[in-house]
Amino acid sequence: MCGIVAYIGPREAYPILIKGLHRLEYRGYDSAGVCLLHDELQIYKCKGKVSELELFIDGQDTSGTIGMAHTRWATHGEPNQVNAHPHYSMNKSLAIIHNGIIENYGTLRSELINRGYVFTSETDTEVLIHLIEDIKENEKVELEEAVRIALNQVIGAYAIVVLSKENPDMIIAARKGSPMVIGIGKDEFFVASDATPIVEYTNNVVFMNDEEIAIIERNKELIIKTIRNKTTTPYIQKLELSLTSLEKGGFDHFMLKEIYEQPRSIRDSMRGRLHLEQGIISLGGIREYEQKLINARRIIITACGTSWHAGLVGEYLLEDLARIPVEVEYSSEFRYRNPIISEEDIVIAISQSGETADTLAAIELAKSKGATVLGICNVVGSSIARATHAGIFTHAGPEIGVASTKAFTAQVIVLTLMALKIAMKKGTITQSRFFQILSELETIPEKVELTLKKNDEVKAIAKIYKDVRNFIYLGRGYNFPVALEGALKLKEISYIHAEGYPAAEMKHGPIALIDAQMPVVVIATRRGTYEKVISNIQEVRARKGKIIAIINEGDEAVKKLADHFIEIPETEEFLVPLIATIPLQLLSYHIAVMRRCNVDQPRNLAKSVTVE
Ligand code: G6P
Repeated sequence: MCGIVAYIGPREAYPILIKGLHRLEYRGYDSAGVCLLHDELQIYKCKGKVSELELFIDGQDTSGTIGMAHTRWATHGEPNQVNAHPHYSMNKSLAIIHNGIIENYGTLRSELINRGYVFTSETDTEVLIHLIEDIKENEKVELEEAVRIALNQVIGAYAIVVLSKENPDMIIAARKGSPMVIGIGKDEFFVASDATPIVEYTNNVVFMNDEEIAIIERNKELIIKTIRNKTTTPYIQKLELSLTSLEKGGFDHFMLKEIYEQPRSIRDSMRGRLHLEQGIISLGGIREYEQKLINARRIIITACGTSWHAGLVGEYLLEDLARIPVEVEYSSEFRYRNPIISEEDIVIAISQSGETADTLAAIELAKSKGATVLGICNVVGSSIARATHAGIFTHAGPEIGVASTKAFTAQVIVLTLMALKIAMKKGTITQSRFFQILSELETIPEKVELTLKKNDEVKAIAKIYKDVRNFIYLGRGYNFPVALEGALKLKEISYIHAEGYPAAEMKHGPIALIDAQMPVVVIATRRGTYEKVISNIQEVRARKGKIIAIINEGDEAVKKLADHFIEIPETEEFLVPLIATIPLQLLSYHIAVMRRCNVDQPRNLAKSVTVE
């Protein structure tokens, strides 16, 4: 969380920084600020979004060819102008932007106060810049050395950029636990939390590693050192990110664009992996671990948010098809509860961003216990992609809307391919069944496309229920994670309270909430526990709840019971989540738009949660 961007080179920094902040705004939007170095360190910052910062700065002097900027997701201190980044050091000769949390900030702050430092904000970040100033002044060391010494005293996570009035041609950047990418152009450098602000100018990038400090100087080679003062050789990689994938492409919101991209993103996530004619699935990224997966006695899936829901589908898939016991864990719980992990275990970490702090910590824990850790990630070069032993990328393309949509279906498709591959190798499904499933998989993008055509019908339902205060989502089997994901989408972007429940569990609690005002979304596709779900629908109807049913085409039985229905194409039971999720994404989208909510940047949320 928090987005940081910096520039040094021949161009005016301000337009590059502002554009960069817009691209990074998905990481937090509580406040924004910019610092330009032009004789003095000039800071402009305000509460609110980047557009508000632009209005605030309008008419001011924004000249300078070196600068940095920040968009904040508040941790320490409420979102206001004082707590917004950048922060000055006490004598105003230094300024900092920071993404992460300094855990020992309390102790450091008290020590600095005793030494006469005065704090203007409530942030942990201000502690760090005062500390750097203190070291620089008292130990009479260069800026980079002062930063290095300070970082050795810090406990916590950080990605920082520091500018100094006395070093007008230098940027110091460092990271631990929070992401940082350096773009290398011709006579210019870019620094950012991810590559999106950089791609427009260069595709040569260096992904910084934890505990590294970059010394970036005008017209000089990039230098990278560790905080233990060991110089390392920067590894320059080529970015494969297109600029058009970062724009809305004619849609009103990124979320809607991303929902509509799903036929493509699902296809891309299968491309080169599913070979229908040869009847094989090849997963190059985990080839070395294939045998281990086949022999696995247990798989643990760890993830957060929507990725956790994909993990739940993964559990059903791996148990059902490959007959391997699976546990699905919230990363934040897993990492702190002394889990039993052995060298024989395989841990699969799922993350869209590849930066979620809790998932990263869960990976480190599993690795420390000797487990094999595989990743399912969307962002190449991300911390999780690098921390895992091996993995498979979802080829969903950049996901910018804070509420995850296409990343979910891409994660599910990758898990499906994985489960099928193991099942085939283990012999837990027959060859003919395997072939049959592969052909069905090929049809999924088209079936998603057909489902997207129901948009107007979904919108009409959204109009009826946009003002309710609660929603219940019910599903069983593979549709239980779908119910959870549907409810999460609605909560996230429309701020309507919604609960996802296993349909049969409803009678153990939520049934008490059902009355004529309660819309109940039921995923009631044929196969599996279809008949049982019909009974659950009856139970809701008996209490006058309003039924919105997701059904297979031509299902007259449920149509008669439901107040509203959306028909989706029929498929294999375990592939239903890929299709049934679509109308639920659209439903929450339309409700949120009708309620005038900020769909792409819902309040209090961030897309990349780099704090625990
Ligand atoms: C945040 C996002 C969610 C996402 C979750 C996990 O809460 O708003 O959309 O599902 O983090 O993120 P990850 O990048 O690890 O999938």
